[in-house]
Amino acid sequence: MPANVLAHPHVDPRRGQVDATDVILTGDRPTGSLHLGHYAGSLRSRLALQGRCAQTLLIADLQALTDSSGRAADVARHVSEVALDYLAVGIDPALTTIAVQSRLSALAELTVLYLNLVTVARLERNPTVKAEVELRGFERDIPAGFLCYPVSQAADITAFRATLVPVGDDQLPMIEQTNEIVRRVNRLAGVSVLPECRSLLSSTPRLPGIDGRKASKSLGNAIPLSATADEIRRLVRAMYTDAGHVRASDPGRVEGNVVFAYLDAFDPDPATVSELKERYQVGGLGDLALKRRLEGVLEALIAPIRARRAELGGDRAYVMDVLRAGSARAGATTEAVLRDVRGAFALDA
Ligand code: TRP
Repeated sequence: MPANVLAHPHVDPRRGQVDATDVILTGDRPTGSLHLGHYAGSLRSRLALQGRCAQTLLIADLQALTDSSGRAADVARHVSEVALDYLAVGIDPALTTIAVQSRLSALAELTVLYLNLVTVARLERNPTVKAEVELRGFERDIPAGFLCYPVSQAADITAFRATLVPVGDDQLPMIEQTNEIVRRVNRLAGVSVLPECRSLLSSTPRLPGIDGRKASKSLGNAIPLSATADEIRRLVRAMYTDAGHVRASDPGRVEGNVVFAYLDAFDPDPATVSELKERYQVGGLGDLALKRRLEGVLEALIAPIRARRAELGGDRAYVMDVLRAGSARAGATTEAVLRDVRGAFALDA
């Protein structure tokens, strides 16, 4: 792992919350390259936990298709982009298994079995699904696969007998639904076939996009982990601060100020950030000075990631090998769990 990750004060190693017997599974939809929101929300925890317990990262291409079937080629292309992002930030395939969801057929079969344990009404009540349906404007035309993706996500998690899932808080309803399914499978089996899982939330609050709205690839308001120094500067300069803070001498607001949200998440010197906040609130600290500091902080974070990405980007064969080996290893694990779950449904093991 790059030294700058471990040295960062926001990465608490969460001793006590995680032990060596925990099994970590988490995933990302390959709908675009990963950005700083992913880094603060979950990648940083994954890096900190790497090597401390078993960990698998799933590139969830089937889940991406549940709302992007019209952009299938895009999803396929982003599988290797996400893998590159993982490797570039310091995920080490010798310590963390990186697998592609669509290559693990046991996940599809588990999903079909679990669908029998969940009602449509329960899926419609899932707050994350509800919010996403609204955001995507599906109204009454919800793809069935999309409505059911929490069940497929339960398959992802249980197929590794995962006990710990590092995610953003929007994923909490998924963990809850997974544990409902786990309890039903165990009741069916009459023994404990699957463990319940718990979430591991980031200590940093959700990072906003540069305009203060939810960070999203489609809004173009996120800072990609592959950003160039120029892109970083352009995006930071465009960040929303406080509309009432016109002159440097005016008192400014810290809440809702995107620059401070990013400094809180990434500045390795929180004491100085606190001082800057005080000065900003009193008046006398200009936005530009603040933004220059953030540019420096982000460039220091992203430069080594960018360099490693460029190095690996030239070696696609290596990335493909990582995905092949990771998916093969994950395949063996998930097939074994599928055998047990088939047993719970009185199917041949
Ligand atoms: N739903 C997650 C997201 O949108 C991605 C995901 C797929 C996932 N399978 C998972 C997360 C299993 C945690 C565990 O980012």
